[in-house]
Amino acid sequence: MPHDLFISPSILSADFTRLAEAVALVEDAGADLIHVDVMDGHFVPNLTIGPPVVKALKRIARVPLDVHLMVDDPDTTAAWYVDAGADYVTVHVEAATHLHRLAESIRSSGAHPGVTLNPATPVAALREILPYVDLVLVMSVNPGFPAQSFIETSVAKVAAIAGMCREAGISPRIEVDGGIDVRTAPRVVAAGADTLVAGNAIFGEPDPGAALKALREGATRRLV
Ligand code: DX5
Ligand code: ZN
Repeated sequence: MPHDLFISPSILSADFTRLAEAVALVEDAGADLIHVDVMDGHFVPNLTIGPPVVKALKRIARVPLDVHLMVDDPDTTAAWYVDAGADYVTVHVEAATHLHRLAESIRSSGAHPGVTLNPATPVAALREILPYVDLVLVMSVNPGFPAQSFIETSVAKVAAIAGMCREAGISPRIEVDGGIDVRTAPRVVAAGADTLVAGNAIFGEPDPGAALKALREGATRRLV
């Protein structure tokens, strides 16, 4: 694994009336990134947060913001999130029209470009864009909601992407999002993932800090 393991807690499962406390709590427990799920009610059947909340989070976060855009028109709106302070801006290959132009413009505005695939989108959709991004996100649930079940074929998908990266001699972060917990984490890490998003497995637990630490420990456990 070329990168250290990063844990990126998804605040979608946190208490929205106490976001600053939730962020501080997971940072104190060792969160490497804060995952921010932006949904527009069109690309996915849910509506969450927009640039003003990202801007507010940026004022209090001590670690980089990992912003996942589940929106219809990232070509136009990704810049809003870069301006709001997003450190990683990840867009869906299914939604961007000019993906290469968009990735280059995210980078030239000072953020890390990322791309992501819905569960039914084949890895071949990444081939041309892979050298231009810093992160590839594998959706291991259908985007839209927290606490869904992990889709099993995601493990092979991570392995295929890790293989493509090795062949191309590049090493973007490989992130997995959806249904990640102490059981699924070691399997995706063994397949080549180095960045784990977790919402319910952290904020759905009575002690989110302890849950984050357990997830990190479990993720690097050897598979038997
Ligand atoms: C799903 C979001 C995820 C979600 C993960 O659309 O992109 O980031 O919050 O939640 P869990 O970890 O609960 O599956
Ligand atoms: Zn997400």
